[in-house]
Amino acid sequence: MCGIVGTVSDKNNIIPILLDGLKTLEYRGYDSAGLSYLKDGNLIINKVEGRVKALEQKIEKNSISHIGIAHTRWATHGKVNEINAHPHQVGKITIVHNGIIENYNKLKHKLKDKGYNFKSESDTEIAAGLLDYYFKKYENIDKTIQKFMKKVDGSYAICMLLENDPNTIYVIKKDSPLIIGQGKNENYIASDVPAILKYTKNYYILEDYEYGKITKNNIKIYDKEGNILKKQLKEYKGSSATSDKGTYEHYMLKEIFEQNTTIRKTVNPYINSINDLLTLPDLTKYERIDIIACGTAMHAGLIAKYLFEQYSNTKCEVFLASEYRYQNNFLNNKVLSIFISQSGETADTLAALKKVKEKNYDTLGIVNVKESSIARTLDKVLYTEAGTEIAVASTKAYTAQIALLSVLALSTAYRKKQIKEEKVNKILEEFRSINQTIIPVLENIKTYENIAKEIYQKNDIFYIGRGLDYALAMEGSLKLKEISYIHSEAYAAGELKHGTISLITKDTPVFASATNKIINSKTISNLKEVISRGAKCYLITDKDIEDENFKQIIKIKKVSMFLKPILTIIPYQLIAYYTAKLKGCDIDKPRNLAKSVTVE
Ligand code: M6R
Repeated sequence: MCGIVGTVSDKNNIIPILLDGLKTLEYRGYDSAGLSYLKDGNLIINKVEGRVKALEQKIEKNSISHIGIAHTRWATHGKVNEINAHPHQVGKITIVHNGIIENYNKLKHKLKDKGYNFKSESDTEIAAGLLDYYFKKYENIDKTIQKFMKKVDGSYAICMLLENDPNTIYVIKKDSPLIIGQGKNENYIASDVPAILKYTKNYYILEDYEYGKITKNNIKIYDKEGNILKKQLKEYKGSSATSDKGTYEHYMLKEIFEQNTTIRKTVNPYINSINDLLTLPDLTKYERIDIIACGTAMHAGLIAKYLFEQYSNTKCEVFLASEYRYQNNFLNNKVLSIFISQSGETADTLAALKKVKEKNYDTLGIVNVKESSIARTLDKVLYTEAGTEIAVASTKAYTAQIALLSVLALSTAYRKKQIKEEKVNKILEEFRSINQTIIPVLENIKTYENIAKEIYQKNDIFYIGRGLDYALAMEGSLKLKEISYIHSEAYAAGELKHGTISLITKDTPVFASATNKIINSKTISNLKEVISRGAKCYLITDKDIEDENFKQIIKIKKVSMFLKPILTIIPYQLIAYYTAKLKGCDIDKPRNLAKSVTVE
């Protein structure tokens, strides 16, 4: 989603720093870019619709500057075009902004009454207008920012340049991440540490309703009343976002193949013995677990629901964060709310978490990015060790999430005496030797490529399953949709004939997994029903089936239900990948999508 970079230096070298930062943030998804810098006392603004490369070409050759701000925009208010791209300048104020100004319409009318005119459709231009209005009124930047924070509803990470103030960048933050990097005679601002990692590892985190003034050798951070704060300087421990693609054509493919390692790394502290497993948090005092997340992370929650309910006899509900926020959540002290997020910055998940925290109920998180907003807000965090995930389509973060949730459910089942020691030891051994079961699934590439050839020109594809396999169908369908742009639907296998089977015609592809011996035969019967109506069925299973009615049967090794989802999702991930590749799609950066969804 939108990205911010800013810097002020004692050297005239900041344009490459801004461009580097924007390039690092590209993977998050954006549709236009812009930057603004001071050159010989004049403020230059360059903006483009499209890629950072185009912005680079637009900047006048040999331009030098010591202060500037830059942005990648993912459109929320107003079309994707140059006018709506950031920075926005109104009067004495120039800003880049991540987030959404919710009351922008009301503010726009007020400002218009005061004589302001706006060029764009963007809510950010209104924010710039409001800052300019207060600055003219108070002639004091602290008062201006404090008043702005009082009047604006919504989320914002703002980086601002002020006319006649050539040495300071101002920042303001609420509900959108923003950090300040400390360098040597050079300081930085970014929406995400990796954007400035090439220059510094040391940074301050800005919290909600804080603002800052940054010069080349001074960083001052204030609370909303203008009191100066003593903040802790942090050192970034994560890896760089621009990790190499190596020999892989796309990050997505690389990340799929990394899963063997990332799963192991994530569960490693817990799988050597039952004692290690019991170092996971004890959840036995909770009568209910609520899991709250978005997209693929929510799908990981559905896998956990199955495992917690079936094996540890713990009631578990899964919620989409965007819905959870506006529901009656029936919370009490016996409910644990688990939040799952790769980025740790998803706005809906963060807002839902804040709702639970305000009521003082217990929270636990499964998060990939350390020190992210969600990680910092949680009571307790278990980190997935997936490393930086660049491709928009989540793969290795998802399997790391389900691996971690699986061992958590396993430890709960053991603590509640719902599962025998011998069985637990067997499952732990399966995790330790996951290489042997996962590598054959990863290497079955020819099969996935052939299936992709059969489906890439289709318009509608179905994914069905029961229980865990239904949750996997949802994730398989999402993967295909987001990167190949083929419409697909996931259905509970038994539900198809209650309406949707009317869409099955000759050659409609239907994917299913049947990995649960109790309900396998039912799913297979449902597949036979669609085959009778002309569908072409692809089945993933650990069962020994030979049946020429299926277009393809993909065999996975027999493992316990705690590992099966991991093995089953890989064929779905790779089929989606090869299908998108045949269609010539922009696999790592699918249209309209962002890696980190920081607006609600
Ligand atoms: O960073 P998060 O895990 O909180 O992100 C949640 C979703 O936006 C994310 O999983 C999204 O659905 C992925 N693009 C799916 O591949």
